[in-house]
Amino acid sequence: MASRSTTSRSTTSRSTPSSWPGAQAWVPPGADLDDLASAAHECRGCDLSEHATQVVMGSGPPQARIMLVGEQPGDQEDRTGEPFVGPAGRLLDDALEAAGIEPASVYRTNAVKHFRFVDRGHKRVHKSPARWQVAKCQPWLLAELEALRPSTVVLLGATAGQAVFGSKFRVGTSRGTPLDWPTTMGGPMPHLVLATAHPSAVLRSRQRDEDFAALVADLRLAAGHPR
Ligand code: URA
Ligand code: SF4
Repeated sequence: MASRSTTSRSTTSRSTPSSWPGAQAWVPPGADLDDLASAAHECRGCDLSEHATQVVMGSGPPQARIMLVGEQPGDQEDRTGEPFVGPAGRLLDDALEAAGIEPASVYRTNAVKHFRFVDRGHKRVHKSPARWQVAKCQPWLLAELEALRPSTVVLLGATAGQAVFGSKFRVGTSRGTPLDWPTTMGGPMPHLVLATAHPSAVLRSRQRDEDFAALVADLRLAAGHPR
């Protein structure tokens, strides 16, 4: 009993954003992608590691020229430990192929590396990460950029966009045109930065065909094949 109340007290005392240290202390300096993926298992930079099954780091060949950034792992990604293996990932692969990009050639990652969800008993329902959780996780994204040095970065949806450009970023007004990499991000500067819709938004859309075509058109720009 005593230990249980201690546990619940310590959980409560760490429930405020400022009580979490952020990922930086777990990120090995100068690490390659494999070392980053191993190190991320230890990360306790925010509260999300306490509820998820496992960390989901980026995945793809170390020579990938295109980095795709999503929001956070979903239910299936949390179970398998791999990004974009669920329904959104399948749609993304279809869109990449339609844009002339070999899906296996790209590096896929997320703004946040642990699954955030609401437990509805038999179902874990996706909940977007809070802004502070995106900020606490940003050192991993910066380290992936440093290790991969992609020439093109595609930001899939608002959370990825906000992870790079800040909380005012909106996909609607920015999508499909080259954006300026913010100097505040530091690290290697990609040649091309684009934002587009998140594949989950396309999946949910009532005009799915149109939105899929728009996603493909944006990805074509990323591939160097303008519309
Ligand atoms: N949605 C994301 O943003 N990332 C994934 O890895 C899967 C679904
Ligand atoms: Fe660390 Fe990011 Fe997971 Fe938070 S979400 S524990 S910062 S890897």
